[in-house]
Amino acid sequence: MQQIKNYIEQNKQRMLDELLNLLRFPSISADPKYKDDVIKTADFVAQKLRDAGADNVEVCPTAGYPIVYGEKIINPAKPTVLVYGHYDVQPPDPLELWHTPPFEPSIRDNKIFARGACDDKGQFYMHVKAFELMMQTHTLPCNIKFMIEGEEEVGSDNLGHFVQANKERLKADVVLISDTAMISMEHPSLETGLRGLSYLEVEVTGPNRDLHSGVYGGAVANPATILAKMIASLHDENNRITIPGFYDDVLNLTQDERDAINSAPYDEAEYKADLGVDELWGEKGYSTFERTGTRPTLEVNGIWGGYIGEGAKTVLPSKANAKISMRLVPNQSSDKITKLFADHFTSIAPPYVKVKVNALHGGEPVVTPTDSIAYQAAQKAIAESFGKEPIPTRGGGSIPIVALFEAELGIKTVLMGFGLDSDNLHSPNEKYDIYNYYKGIETIPLFYKYFDELSK
Ligand code: BES
Ligand code: MN
Ligand code: MN
Repeated sequence: MQQIKNYIEQNKQRMLDELLNLLRFPSISADPKYKDDVIKTADFVAQKLRDAGADNVEVCPTAGYPIVYGEKIINPAKPTVLVYGHYDVQPPDPLELWHTPPFEPSIRDNKIFARGACDDKGQFYMHVKAFELMMQTHTLPCNIKFMIEGEEEVGSDNLGHFVQANKERLKADVVLISDTAMISMEHPSLETGLRGLSYLEVEVTGPNRDLHSGVYGGAVANPATILAKMIASLHDENNRITIPGFYDDVLNLTQDERDAINSAPYDEAEYKADLGVDELWGEKGYSTFERTGTRPTLEVNGIWGGYIGEGAKTVLPSKANAKISMRLVPNQSSDKITKLFADHFTSIAPPYVKVKVNALHGGEPVVTPTDSIAYQAAQKAIAESFGKEPIPTRGGGSIPIVALFEAELGIKTVLMGFGLDSDNLHSPNEKYDIYNYYKGIETIPLFYKYFDELSK
């Protein structure tokens, strides 16, 4: 442990500067304008893996953005850890809400503000630096493989093919991912589940063209009004989702499991104050952690139609649109839920409009084991570096690749994230605490140490 601390202390500034350089790349996978930047980011990551001591580093082309692979096999008889992360980031919009530019990392109050600071550049780069540390101090006890992709934020469409085509190369005993959050630094935790996702776009069309709202208004249905009503009908008075069959496959938790989730520290007043809301909302009968971690949900991610420019324009729009996502829990299936939604949404359309539903992407929910050697290693590592046993929690976000690794490679995952829910992932002013960054670099080598010890 002292050796780890010493190495970090001696290399502190450089480890931080390298992360800041990584954060300067606008690797926005959703926007084709940034194609060159995304590719340059992959090259940067590959070079950093080589510098840290990885062998066989390759920027592997896919039909979309490349996957960066690198490995260090110290002894084929030793256990192997596959580290997964993503170098792409979400679009930074709305830009005007950032206090400093998203791709010019700025440090305030010991926090790094930049798009990707926490999700996921700051987090996967801890693994690159922890690997460097183990190489430099000759303490790497296991084999390590890195797979850092560039399309996570747009659904990892090409990762499935890569995994299928590289089963031998990706063989490992566990997948280790830092792309989730802890409750707080005072209450370290390990996520033991992720929700699945069904993401769709809907379009409601009324008249065949935009109309003068005075000339035609009152005689023709307004698709924006109809869309709003259709969306509003998707939740009932208990905030349950009204799509027939939606809850059929949901695995209900035992009272013990519910008690465990509700025993995690939670300060509702603080939670509300942080978000600036006076009251919370959600499915009746469930606590906040249950609602976000164990129950399926439906959210409107965007809604538009008609005139949204400056000033007023009197128009009865021809079309209205929305992007809708549903978070799924075990044993729901993304394809099935997508179909249930499409059938239901089409069936509730009144005769004044036509409805189109277009599925964008999806992913399956997962629960990760807590009785595995790898989970125990993560527990011991965190207990040692934080001085406290981690609390198991269920995360609300999605990392579709986790279910895929399990299905394609038969490998389970450990979600050892060091972010915070309040780090503004996907929001303006995303941040990552410098303390968390170094804490991660300190904890990761301990994971390897205990994973190797417990595997013997
Ligand atoms: N790192 C997040 C997922 C996450 C965040 C899990 C916080 C747990 C806690 C990941 O980058 C992400 O944003 N995933 C997307 C899904 C993807 C298919 C676009 C998500 O959850 O919306
Ligand atoms: Mn992420
Ligand atoms: Mn994300």
